[in-house]
Amino acid sequence: MAARNGRRRHVDKVEKPSGTNIAEYPIMSDKPVILVTRKLPQAVEDRLRSDYEARLNPDDHLYTSDELIERAQGADALLPCHTEHLSAEIIGRLPDSIKAVANFSVGFDHVDLEAAKARGIIVTNTPDVLSDATAELTIMLMLGAARRASEGEHLVRSQEWRDWSPSFMVGIQMTGKRLGIIGFGRVGQVTAKRARGFDMEIHYTDVRRLPREQEAGAIYHDSPEDLLPHCDFLALHCVATPETRNLLNAERIALLPDDAIVVNAARGAIIDDEALIAALKSGKLAAAGIDAYNNEPDIHPGYRELVNTFLMPHIGSATRETRDAMGFRAIDNLDAIFAGREPRDRVV
Ligand code: DGY
Repeated sequence: MAARNGRRRHVDKVEKPSGTNIAEYPIMSDKPVILVTRKLPQAVEDRLRSDYEARLNPDDHLYTSDELIERAQGADALLPCHTEHLSAEIIGRLPDSIKAVANFSVGFDHVDLEAAKARGIIVTNTPDVLSDATAELTIMLMLGAARRASEGEHLVRSQEWRDWSPSFMVGIQMTGKRLGIIGFGRVGQVTAKRARGFDMEIHYTDVRRLPREQEAGAIYHDSPEDLLPHCDFLALHCVATPETRNLLNAERIALLPDDAIVVNAARGAIIDDEALIAALKSGKLAAAGIDAYNNEPDIHPGYRELVNTFLMPHIGSATRETRDAMGFRAIDNLDAIFAGREPRDRVV
């Protein structure tokens, strides 16, 4: 439960202390005002409403920049998603009352951290709680791409499926293959664990080598260049930063074995779209499974035109359990901030 010093604005219904009647008896509450930019799970909104003065978005429309700034007037914190691009310009226009941005996301590339820091705005994210869901989706992308799920589904739904033969819809087997992971953080490690269920040999690269117990047998490579030739499947799980923008470019794709499969459930910015599409068209790569894109939802049209892409609409964390957990984690961070404690997931 959060309270805010010295500011009162909220009217609650209470029972009159001396009588038996329930009446509108205005008391002023002292709760911080939270601007919630998107519709959140019911249990999350219930907790927000109970502990805060929550400005919700019941019809879940995407706020324009002006609308966001207008609705933020007098608020103490924002609870946005990655759909809100909190650029330096937007952060500069936020009212002085905003003390925190408690993201409903593990990714925070949509927030200009330097601008937030310069204004003394605390920024938090929601790590850990979405690792299982995102790793599940990553395995689905690998299977979907390798077993030509988009083509197969289309054939059945469109009634174009006519026949069966030994050469019909033949894909690539995942079992026993080598999986390379770029970014061996929480999601990467869970993906590796699930992939071991398919007897895959795990290779990874990250900014530094992990302790042996966290590697769990995964083979470390000290650069993407060293990793790529060992990847029958490549899964991208690194964060999107200026350093990782277009990390998977034409030169690096050329280092993958022929017929490799690329999957991305992290951020679109990590991939050079033109280079990936060219490699899928030329047959250098067998297929790609993608859940995160540049410029969502107006993705590069080339992906839609290819039959060897398995495309999902950024749903890595979209399970009931995980969406609740993300919301609660964001509220935990707000609770800490308004209680004067250090939030668990502070990124700035
Ligand atoms: C995340 O948490 O970063 C997911 O991509 C959803 O925003």
